[in-house]
Amino acid sequence: MFESFKVPKNLTPSDPRFGVGPSLIPIEAVEKLAKTGHELLGTSHRREAVRKVVQEMQEGIKAYFKLPTDYEVVIGNGGATLLWDMIGLGLIEKNPHHFVCGEFSDKWFRANKNIPWLQPEISKVDFGKGINPEYKKGSDFIACTLNETSTGVMLSELPDVPQDCLLAIDATSGAGQIKIDFKKSDLYYFSPQKVFASEGGFYVAIMSPKAIERAQKIAKDSSRFIPESFKWTHAIDNSRQNQTYNTPAISTIFFLNEQVKLMNKLGEEAVVKEAKRKADLMYGWANSKSYLKPFIEEEKFRSIAVATIDLDEKFKADDLAQSLRAQGVVYDIDAYRKLGRNQFRIGLFHNVSYENLEKLTQIISLAVEDQ
Ligand SMILES: Cc1ncc(COP(=O)(O)O)c(C=O)c1O
Repeated sequence: MFESFKVPKNLTPSDPRFGVGPSLIPIEAVEKLAKTGHELLGTSHRREAVRKVVQEMQEGIKAYFKLPTDYEVVIGNGGATLLWDMIGLGLIEKNPHHFVCGEFSDKWFRANKNIPWLQPEISKVDFGKGINPEYKKGSDFIACTLNETSTGVMLSELPDVPQDCLLAIDATSGAGQIKIDFKKSDLYYFSPQKVFASEGGFYVAIMSPKAIERAQKIAKDSSRFIPESFKWTHAIDNSRQNQTYNTPAISTIFFLNEQVKLMNKLGEEAVVKEAKRKADLMYGWANSKSYLKPFIEEEKFRSIAVATIDLDEKFKADDLAQSLRAQGVVYDIDAYRKLGRNQFRIGLFHNVSYENLEKLTQIISLAVEDQ
């Protein structure tokens, strides 16, 4: 299906990258990195030049999110997946409660379940539904996912938790674009290859003093084995010196810093406003066409970072996605593989422009209505 469909020239987006991560890194940022010549790439990450970029990025993140002054921006290698293990090993006492609404939140739960001394509990909804986290009595850790990238569900509310409990948020695909009240959050972490338009293999973890204290307390527990590379204390100590425990990809930090600067020029309010405008465009379009439907029924849970839109079974979403990729005009709009739906999943990240999304809606409409 769709083999003979050709995208008209006037509808060709200025950038084909609509994926939900790795996402669109601006070509200007790549060119800017090339212009740094001998100064960054291939130099020591413990020296001034790189540490200055790290520091600028950490301070930029603090400014963007208007973080409370005693919160820290902790960084390291490995990305969100590695953090799931690092969190289980070094931040949870015994009883985490996980709120699960898709593949990524489920993977975090499963990672913690593998640790013999943890007793994770789970509140789970069918994929496609949303769930807001709540404090559960007896839990020392509440785990939730800001934006479930596999289904396109976002959180709409966060609970208050008591002093002996941490609220942790996997913000990987929502960070920067879905606003939260940081005073409620103890650990807010993300890999930067989504809204923050960098590469993978790296994490940013925004920690409250309570989370730092918990990490330090668990680190002193000699009965608990934590591999060196998973130690929060190493990550915290190095981050305080604008470094990572082991060698990072400097380009990843560079791109992240460029994106933080770009978004700071507008400020979080304006970035979020634009994200909502793009989400309105996509869901409005899906509602206006008989052959489309937003996958997430409850509006408050419909993501403003990742749009999931079902296509009538008469047409094959995968075939269209493949045809558009083969023409080099639209990349990576396929559904999450394991979800197995006839669906488009589209990144509404900051660098994906409203104009290009508008063109994408016109391309899909034209292709389907041509059949
Ligand atoms: C919500 C969420 N959490 C965690 C991850 C895993 O991130 P990484 O592949 O950087 O480890 C992803 C990746 O897409 C994600 O979307």
